[in-house]
Amino acid sequence: MEKKTILSGIQATGSLTLGNYLGALNNWVEMQDKYDCYYMIADLHTLTIRNDPETLRENTLKLIALYVAAGLDPDKNTIFIQSHIPAHPALSWVLNCYTYMGELNRMTQFKDKSLKHADNINSGLFTYPVLMAADILAYNADLVPVGDDQKQHLEITRDIAERFNSIYGNTFKIPEVYIGKVGARIMGLQNPTSKMSKSAVDPMDKVLLTDSPDEIRKKFKKAVTDSENCVRYDVTNKPGVSNLMSIYGIIKNKSMEDIEKEFSGQGYGTFKTAVAEAVVERLEPLQKKYNELLENPDKLKAIYEKGDKKAKEKSDKLLKEVYKKIGLVVE
Ligand code: TYM
Repeated sequence: MEKKTILSGIQATGSLTLGNYLGALNNWVEMQDKYDCYYMIADLHTLTIRNDPETLRENTLKLIALYVAAGLDPDKNTIFIQSHIPAHPALSWVLNCYTYMGELNRMTQFKDKSLKHADNINSGLFTYPVLMAADILAYNADLVPVGDDQKQHLEITRDIAERFNSIYGNTFKIPEVYIGKVGARIMGLQNPTSKMSKSAVDPMDKVLLTDSPDEIRKKFKKAVTDSENCVRYDVTNKPGVSNLMSIYGIIKNKSMEDIEKEFSGQGYGTFKTAVAEAVVERLEPLQKKYNELLENPDKLKAIYEKGDKKAKEKSDKLLKEVYKKIGLVVE
């Protein structure tokens, strides 16, 4: 039986957080044997905010290194750079013409980001979900593994695809969102009612995948909890402790009940230390591999060149089919 296709991506903006890792990357690694996987570096999406050009180039290569260091095997997965594949912006333009302003206006990420970047509410920020739809639909992806915050973008992708199919006949596969059972929304350590974000101003709120073991320990030690001093999963009343439990549960592959039992009668000090050590233990080998890869840019180039080639072949085919259906001259 033919393997199902997966596509996902991460923006090339600075160092990734533990949220990106546990909500996305970690799930991708588990899927690589079962599916035909396309994982891209979303560098075009990054242009919706102002970047230093040299830093963006560096971040793009760093992200490739991180994908591999996190466990994505470049021989099993197609790892590629979004801007290297002309079908993405081309299909995005076409899909823009099948997407309504009203739909884009409802996107909560657009509203959030407009508030954050009030001096630069550009139209790329507005049509951002359409480029994301093009990324996904260009590969006829069956499944899209993302964190909870991308769910709405998947819904609009499905709406656009269904609209197009209803006019021109079956063209796009309707993709399903894949969200992990736990870790879909890792929260900030200082503000556990908001998601852990790369752009958080307070460095203590986010754990970066490149943080040193001591930084990680310090951040977990200072993580906001509550006054009950009892390790119990209750997102509404104990968001801080519940978030730490989710982090620990994913890394140790333990249920919330198991964790409650493990730390029953013990205070938050012991629990926080255990969470920090679990994270350090997981990230240390990842960081080692990441640093090794960064010293070998030729290897990184070979990885994305191989991925680019395969991604281009697949997406060009679909773009041509779309062009034909809408009436463009295809040679
Ligand atoms: P980005 O770069 O913001 O985030 C990358 C992935 O990390 C997940 N994530 C989280 N998961 C759990 N807890 C958190 N605190 C947390 N923070 C981030 C995100 O849900 C995402 O899965 N638009 C996308 C990139 C993209 C894309 C695509 C994804 C572009 N094209 C096509 C899938 C398919 C984005 O900005 O993700």
